[in-house]
Parts: sequence; C-alpha cells; structure tokens
Amino acid sequence: MIPTRKRTRLVLRLGLALLVILAAAALTGTGPVSARVPTNVFAPESTHAWVIYKYTLLVLAITGAIFVVVAGLLAYAIVRFRQRKGDDTTEPPQVYGSEQVEIAWTVIPVIIVIVLVLTTARTIHEIQDAPRPPGSLEVTAIGRQWWWEFRYPSLGIVTANELHIPVSDRANPTPTFLRLLSADVAHSFWVPRLAGKTDLIPNRANEMWMDPAQPGLYLGQCAEYCGTQHAHMLLRVYVHPEDEFERWVAHQKSPDVADASVASGRAVFETTACINCHTLGGTVADGTYGPSLSHLMSRATIGAGVATNTAANLRAWIVDPQVLKPGARMPAMKLDEADLDRLVDYLVTLE
Ligand code: CUA
Repeated sequence: MIPTRKRTRLVLRLGLALLVILAAAALTGTGPVSARVPTNVFAPESTHAWVIYKYTLLVLAITGAIFVVVAGLLAYAIVRFRQRKGDDTTEPPQVYGSEQVEIAWTVIPVIIVIVLVLTTARTIHEIQDAPRPPGSLEVTAIGRQWWWEFRYPSLGIVTANELHIPVSDRANPTPTFLRLLSADVAHSFWVPRLAGKTDLIPNRANEMWMDPAQPGLYLGQCAEYCGTQHAHMLLRVYVHPEDEFERWVAHQKSPDVADASVASGRAVFETTACINCHTLGGTVADGTYGPSLSHLMSRATIGAGVATNTAANLRAWIVDPQVLKPGARMPAMKLDEADLDRLVDYLVTLE
C-alpha cells in the first residue's frame, strides 16, 4: 500500500505530465513546428483536410472538456477526502439513489453522443459527396506491393511514388482529382495535410480530390496494412506553382536521353530481365509490373521512399533490393561488377 501523501504527489505529477503533453501537442499544431512536420494533421492545406481538421478540433474540445471535468472531480476527491491522522475508521454514511443525478448522467452523455454522431455524418457527407470540381487535373493512382503508380491520362505521363500536382488557389483553382485503384491487395492513400485516408481496393475505383493552397512537399504513407513492406510504402506529393508544374509536365513528356557515352550500359539494360518489368521510353523495355524508369533521376527517392536516389543507392538496389527493402518484388539481378557499373552509369543519365 502506497502512503497517502506519496499517492497524492504521484497523482499531481501524472496530471502535470499530461498537461505538458497536451500543451506540446497544441503547440505543434499552431506554432512554427507545424511547417517542419510535413505530416502534421493540425496543419491542413486543402479543402477536405480543413473539413477534417475543424471536425477534429470539435471532437478534441468535447472530449477534452469531459476529461477535465472527470479528472478534476477525481483529483478533488482524492485530495479532499484522503485519509488523515486521527480519522475515525467507521464507515461513512451510505447514499443510495438520486433521481436528479441519474437523469443528469444519462441525458448529458446522450446529448454529447447525438452531437458527435451528427457532426461525423455531416463531415463524411461533406467529403464523400463533394461534387467533382470542374477543370480538375485527372490522375490515376494505383496501389501496388509496395509502391505507388501515378498515371496522368490527359498528359500521357506515368511515374512512381512522387506525385506532382499544381497549386490550387482562389485566383486559379486547379484541383487534382484522383481515381484510386489497386493492382493487388487493399492499400490506403493518405497525405495528412491534403486529405483524409481513402482506400485503394482491387476491382473497385474509389475517388478523391485535393486542392492544395500552398506549394511545397507533402509527405504521405500507405495507411492500410498491405503486407511485409507496408511501412515502406511512402509517398511524396510535390505541389508546384502553375508555371513550375508546366515545366515538370514538359520535362516528363520529353524523350529520355540516349547518350552515346553510356550506350554500353543501355545495352546491358536492354539485354537483362529489367525490361520484363519496367518501361523506359525509347528502349525495348515495356514491362508494367514495376515502376516506369522514364526520367528516373527526376525522383528524389527509390523503393517508394526507402533510400535517396543516388548512384550508390541505385547500385545497391540492383545488387539486391532485399537488403534495402526485404520482401520487395524485384529480385537480385546477379550482374557482374563491370555490367553493374555500366548499367548504373546509364541509369543516372535518365534525368
Ligand atoms: Cu500499401 Cu500498406
């Protein structure tokens, strides 16, 4: 049995720790930290993320108030009615039944639950039944074990893991409309600052859209367990000002270089199993099982975010993807050192 005074001190300390945690959480939501946390749900930048954010604040306010009242009464009772020296040990008077108190603790929670149910339903309706905004850019996102494929049907671009979209401000609204598909199991597309989670389900097309108001890099992640490398199914959304986005589109549509100085590396690529799974414009490679390698070096990461896209990491990836990403569907290519060097020299020219 812990002595009463120690128990009181313990309760006060726990309360203080909780307050510090809550204050820190509130600060990261509004303070300078929010810009440095690219997945911060308290720093929304797109219509649906705002809707969810406002709803989250309401729920936090209601549940926070309940917590303060309950914890406050509990702390008061613990301190006020603690055992003191000289207390008599007889049982205190027992009180049974109070209609008023019972009605109060039935009616108040019922009202709270009704408010939460109605606001939840309204938030879901506002997001799921939102009309598709006119003039939106269409992108098809396909979830795969364990990477993302992004297709721009109107632009003829196919890329992987890094989604590039235009900023959508009031003067020039250009939202991005996403069709979400899956090539294998269920995944979930989640970029916390831009929108809520939406599942990618086999044999079904889900939809969502986002209209980020600020340019920048937004990080996301697959949010539905989809196998061994679920945790390494990261995604990056680059939001560009209009002219910058047009430059990106023009660059992605331009043919990949066919630099004569790396022709031998290109020959290694075209005579290896690479071409069965990958597509690369201007070569014989037209596989669709793995990510397109067109303009490979314009991506910041490889393996859906497991490593930065450098020559050394590309080399390590080709030697054995299982080292960087155990379970990845790509096998070790078993090339000799000379061919490996030539192949990497070629790949790094794919800007
Ligand atoms: Cu894809 Cu988890």
